[in-house]
Amino acid sequence: RTGVCIICAMQTPFPTLFKTAAAAASILIMNACAPAPEDNAGQPESETGDGDSNAIAKADFGETKAGEATEIYTLTNKNGLVAKVTTYGATLVELHLPDKDGNLVDVINGFDNVAGYEGDGNQYFGCTTGRVCNRIAKGKFTLDGEEYTLATNNDPNHLHGGGDKALSKQVWKAEPSADTQAVTFSLTSPDGEEGYPGNLSMKVTYTLTDENELRIDYEATTDKATPVNLTNHAYFNLGGAGSGTILSHELTLNADNYTATDDTLIPTGKIEPVADTALDFRKAHVIGERIPDKEAKETADCETSTLGYDHNFVVNGEAGTMRLAARLKDPASGRVMEIHTDQPGIQFYSGNFLMEQEGKGGKKYPFRGALCLETQHFPDSVNHEDFPSTILKPGDTYSTTTVHRFSAE
Ligand code: BGC
Repeated sequence: RTGVCIICAMQTPFPTLFKTAAAAASILIMNACAPAPEDNAGQPESETGDGDSNAIAKADFGETKAGEATEIYTLTNKNGLVAKVTTYGATLVELHLPDKDGNLVDVINGFDNVAGYEGDGNQYFGCTTGRVCNRIAKGKFTLDGEEYTLATNNDPNHLHGGGDKALSKQVWKAEPSADTQAVTFSLTSPDGEEGYPGNLSMKVTYTLTDENELRIDYEATTDKATPVNLTNHAYFNLGGAGSGTILSHELTLNADNYTATDDTLIPTGKIEPVADTALDFRKAHVIGERIPDKEAKETADCETSTLGYDHNFVVNGEAGTMRLAARLKDPASGRVMEIHTDQPGIQFYSGNFLMEQEGKGGKKYPFRGALCLETQHFPDSVNHEDFPSTILKPGDTYSTTTVHRFSAE
């Protein structure tokens, strides 16, 4: 170990007033002070910063099958919230939030080490998704007169960037900030990787603010025109990851419209109103109340091709400006998450393919045990001229921000 464990050095017990901070600190104490097990994935080995409270703990997260080392970084804010991020897939691994009584719990699905993320149970848990998130019809598009063919890894379509070289399966380079609770991950995807044109250089920064926000900033540049659509694929259960289903969560979506799709979840091109359908979340609704069911279409108010919610909503207001996209509340714990974004759309996916896989600390993630709210450009935009463009040109910078704001009531 190269760093000093600042938490262990603290003598005074935490006053009850700082219950959440104390609970978070105890998480750090557990991680930072526990004797290193044989496989020391997850154990802090050093800290960055100037040795004061800005220190960001860094630990080994295990080796990939290909023998690459991975790391995990711990961000903590003054209220005791904790976020952990790994270089594997520039992935959000843990997010500890207080409930209305100040009790911290980890609210996202994930695994204890990189081996879990490389295993069959990983359905894009918490990763940076791309180069193009969501679907591209039949894995084909034409750009500047050239036809490109991508992996059809979600038969018959391309999903979330494709195969082994999708961004979620690569080891990114990490740069922790010296003065804020932030880590920047960078990666250059070479021309032709996963079939996409252009050398694409990307940066993804996770920042945990003292205003109880997890902010994700994305940036990319290219040397050849190419489609780019980056998102984060965290699965949330505000009652605690692995604590049951999200059917009793209340969701509000700031969206009057959604993009209608065919049976393979490719947009037909029509933008449809949510009014009078099970997709109308303009006022808060309990998710389980009207969940669309592929097996019983007639019981749902909307046409659906999915086993639950798996729809792209058109966020009201001007794309390119920050505005509220979603508000999620778990009434039992009181935890609330607001999502603000400059993106034109948000995919609400109700965990329809979760399959009771085992995750962090042996917790199981059941069918609809967590949900995703993925801020994005619309699916298959590269094949829809009238959708907001996903094409990044040389000389331009792709830049987008999504902020998750947490509270409890
Ligand atoms: C998609 C789902 C897909 C899931 C995979 C979501 O973004 O909308 O259709 O099954 O990702 O984890």
